[in-house]
Amino acid sequence: MSEKAAQRAVVVGGASGIGWAVARGLAATGRQVTIADRNAEGAAQRAAELGAPHDATGVDVTDEASVAALFEGVGAVDMVVNTAGFGGFGRITELAVEDFRSIVDCCLTGAFIVMKHAGRQLREGGSLVSITSLNARLAAPGMSAYCSAKAGLAMLTQVAALEMGPRGIRVNAVSPGFVHTPLTELVTMADGVLEDYLENTPLGRVGVPEDVAEAVLFLCSDQASWLTGEVLDLNGGAHLKRYPDVLAHVDRMASA
Ligand SMILES: NC(=O)c1ccc[n+]([C@@H]2O[C@H](COP(=O)([O-])OP(=O)(O)OC[C@H]3O[C@@H](n4cnc5c(N)ncnc54)[C@H](O)[C@@H]3O)[C@@H](O)[C@H]2O)c1
Repeated sequence: MSEKAAQRAVVVGGASGIGWAVARGLAATGRQVTIADRNAEGAAQRAAELGAPHDATGVDVTDEASVAALFEGVGAVDMVVNTAGFGGFGRITELAVEDFRSIVDCCLTGAFIVMKHAGRQLREGGSLVSITSLNARLAAPGMSAYCSAKAGLAMLTQVAALEMGPRGIRVNAVSPGFVHTPLTELVTMADGVLEDYLENTPLGRVGVPEDVAEAVLFLCSDQASWLTGEVLDLNGGAHLKRYPDVLAHVDRMASA
């Protein structure tokens, strides 16, 4: 009897933080993982840590040709997780348009480009998961681009679920609160941000990348086979309260 082939998974943004935890989780549960990231060298190192048959490739989600090449190269795939994203700070009245555009370009347009090309290769029964943010539903001063892009991604997830559902493809998103990763290192350097977040989090702790990976693994699994179009709040209950005034903390630090 021939051995059942491993399910194929692609983790975009898998070289760091949440994406790397997702890649580890998928590999640990028997999936064959391709780590794709703008940081091609970091992705290759991560794939080497996982060992064969896992592999890596460079990709920039803002460049459609590179995303198309990624999915044409991988071929038929069972699960795609897109974690590529970053944020930035600045009041609307001061923010450079190019800074606004670069965040939207990666977090929203990039997510669309990944959905477009992943959607062509996903098998029936496949799963597509994006990472939105608590900021998709809670506004934060100074984070206009990020909040808008992530809110857009939440809606994009629902549209994609409608379009791809008839092909048996499930499309969901995880919407994390504050997670300790290289992305949030800078924010935690501003005095008071973390304390402010924790005061507004019923479970009283921030997340670790593995918290998000567990949710993503569930969404990719057969246990979630009737679940699509969902944007899952994962934040210790922080969505029930208010978001910290990060800009005020950053301003206070800058003027100290
Ligand atoms: N850390 C948090 O608190 C938090 C909270 C909510 C949502 N998120 C979201 O989770 C996702 C992962 O964040 P993280 O904290 O793990 O960050 P991270 O910086 O540790 O990892 C992001 C990865 O995405 C890659 N990347 C960035 N731009 C890319 C592009 N254009 N093309 C391909 N790869 C690109 C980076 O090279 C990096 O490896 C992001 O979308 C972020 O917005 C993070």
